[in-house]
Amino acid sequence: MQSEYRHLIDLSDYPVSWWKKVVDLGEEIRNDPERFAHECDGKVMATLFYEPSTRTQMSFQTAMIRLGGKIIGFDNPANSSVAKGETIKDTTKIVSSYADILVIRHPMAGTAKAAALTAECPVINAGDGGHLHPTQTLTDLLTLQIEKKTLSGLTIGMCGDLINGRTVHSLCKALSAMKNNHFIFISTPELRMPGYIKDIIRTNGSSFEEVDTLEEVIGRLDVLYMTRIQQERFASEEDYLAQKNTYVLDRIKMQAAKKDMIIMHPLPRVDEITVDVDDDPRAKYFTQAKYGVYVRMALILTILREDGGSELLKGKVRNNVCCDNPRCITNHEHYLPKSFRSSGDETLLECEFCDERKLL
Ligand code: NCD
Repeated sequence: MQSEYRHLIDLSDYPVSWWKKVVDLGEEIRNDPERFAHECDGKVMATLFYEPSTRTQMSFQTAMIRLGGKIIGFDNPANSSVAKGETIKDTTKIVSSYADILVIRHPMAGTAKAAALTAECPVINAGDGGHLHPTQTLTDLLTLQIEKKTLSGLTIGMCGDLINGRTVHSLCKALSAMKNNHFIFISTPELRMPGYIKDIIRTNGSSFEEVDTLEEVIGRLDVLYMTRIQQERFASEEDYLAQKNTYVLDRIKMQAAKKDMIIMHPLPRVDEITVDVDDDPRAKYFTQAKYGVYVRMALILTILREDGGSELLKGKVRNNVCCDNPRCITNHEHYLPKSFRSSGDETLLECEFCDERKLL
């Protein structure tokens, strides 16, 4: 099947029907994984993890192995030529010529797109800094489809580090594209959801509210999505310590929650959910992590079956303009084109790698 696109950098590059197709296939695989055991015989997947990972990396690897394929890659760039100063461009060029599909995680926003620019095979974004995490979102959608039997009409509370949490950014983009979802963002004023995500929610016609405490809203939620305070993305230890331990979900708070509310968390958990909540039947975060294998099997199959085009940059290259985001890959790998979208207004630009806005 011919698709317009080739890589998975951001789910928004595909129509909702495509995500649903992947999630439905994930559910089909979950019900009968054996049927798919040889679908990727002879195929190779490369995983390039420049940032720590347990679930995303291992679930991708398990997914490929369960499909009959093989894996190569690194999870410690210090053991690769990256330690000698190799660029994303060169590493990607070479590794993508060894593999049929490449999965990349990196601490800088926009790196998956940067990798896709030179890759010879499809690239999957396994997390680019504090920006996006589309395969966690596919995992989350499969979890909702199985555990809540719907992807729409839900009141979803998202709690914790909403400014730095890439999982909640991708999930908001996806769920706001479904019908009648309402978001409640629970965070301190410093960790609120970024403006560009709130704008996408508004444009998609969904609604949201922002509150400071979990207690004031927990009883209204169908889904509570907890997140870790992203220590590694704070400018200083002091800033992190000021936010640490602000939100802790425990059995007492759970007493006020609906009987059928589900708790999700992309994991790893630090201390935002006490361990005694794990026994509550509403706690779905471990099941969610397991669904990640099935949906990644579905994603690998879909991407390998479809041989799409790959028009990655649609905006205008302005090499005399720099992105204002210090954690954007274009400020670290200087050969990359400085490509920006503009929405009619030529003074407001949006970086095509990290989505940061810039006023000229
Ligand atoms: C998340 C991530 O890496 O963004 N974890 C994951 O992929 N399951 C969440 C986190 O690190 O807090």
